[in-house]
Amino acid sequence: MRVTPWEVSGEIDYDKLIKEFGLSVIDNKLLERIRKHTKDVHFMLRRGVIFAHRDLNWLLDEFEKGNKFFLYTGCGPSGPIHLGHIQMWTFTKWLQDVFGVELWFQFTDDEKFLFKDKSYDEIQKWTYENMLDVIALGFDPKKTHFLIDTKNANLLYPIAIKIAKKINFSTLKAAFGFTDSNNIGSIFYTSMQAVPAVLPSVLKGKNIPCLIPLGVDQDTHFRVARDVYPKLGFYKPAIMHKMMFPSLDGGGVMSSSKGNFITSTDSPKEVEQKIKKYAFSGGRDTIEEHRRKGGNPDVDVSFQYLKMFFEPDDEKLAKIEKEYRSGKMLTSELKEYLIKKINSFFKEHQKKREKAKNMIDEFLYKEKEGNI
Ligand code: TRP
Repeated sequence: MRVTPWEVSGEIDYDKLIKEFGLSVIDNKLLERIRKHTKDVHFMLRRGVIFAHRDLNWLLDEFEKGNKFFLYTGCGPSGPIHLGHIQMWTFTKWLQDVFGVELWFQFTDDEKFLFKDKSYDEIQKWTYENMLDVIALGFDPKKTHFLIDTKNANLLYPIAIKIAKKINFSTLKAAFGFTDSNNIGSIFYTSMQAVPAVLPSVLKGKNIPCLIPLGVDQDTHFRVARDVYPKLGFYKPAIMHKMMFPSLDGGGVMSSSKGNFITSTDSPKEVEQKIKKYAFSGGRDTIEEHRRKGGNPDVDVSFQYLKMFFEPDDEKLAKIEKEYRSGKMLTSELKEYLIKKINSFFKEHQKKREKAKNMIDEFLYKEKEGNI
């Protein structure tokens, strides 16, 4: 198993990750504590899709003292937005809504230029395309600020160098497996991803707690950076970790560089074809055998998509699980159900994505006179 920001491979053992990364589990006690503030607890939390955290109790202590936090997350614009991204940002939007907090959203065009075999222009195109998807998810424009690394460099770079000065190459080699042949830009990059976690504190001139919802593969950047923040006089950010979203074949994670994904602009027909053709099934070889022995929802990708994202209703999910396991529900029926769910989500999303074309300016963070 390998889980780094640039490579996720092998079967992911989350218990092992928790130990290796030094994460804390989100247990019932913590869920109850969250519920005090949010009334309902998001199904991704209830179902353990958001499975681990760092310093969430500290963040809630501060919140309860009236010290509001802000959210920070981001997007690496190297290709189309897929279901795994949308799942993460749906949860992020919920956090923004229930806590009524600001969100800083970083587009790491520098990262993707440095790490991918793609031209600068192509990455700029994806930055634009990806921004549309983020806006379409309904974040509050008054409370959401987009940062684009190369466009907001004036603001980010002075903080990035302060962070970079406290990280040495050997730390990064150990954390990411870098070698002497990595380009020198990629070695600097972690310090850019570290900046937004403290940017509002720098802008306001006082420390503000930060919560970062992320896919667990991104944790490594912050494992390194969290050691640095206090040395510069800042708080360490709290983090919430999401499980990786499975690829259609179930053998890995959904990734826009691997061609195993469903993207936000897929047509209803494309969604249908991809699910029917590629979604790994936990069903039996023949209908007769399926009726007799039942299917296995634990390995069935369609069921996992419902559980992790598309069926928020616990009772409905339990019914599907029971009927699939018993053989009453066939794989074809399960797939139909999922296809309908995805397509009705996309119908709205794609409309909002069109509208977002006129809204980008509202989201871009603009440096004001006197700030930094
Ligand atoms: N590096 C992330 C990616 O490739 C993008 C990102 C930037 C990010 N800042 C973040 C993700 C903070 C989570 C949290 O997708």
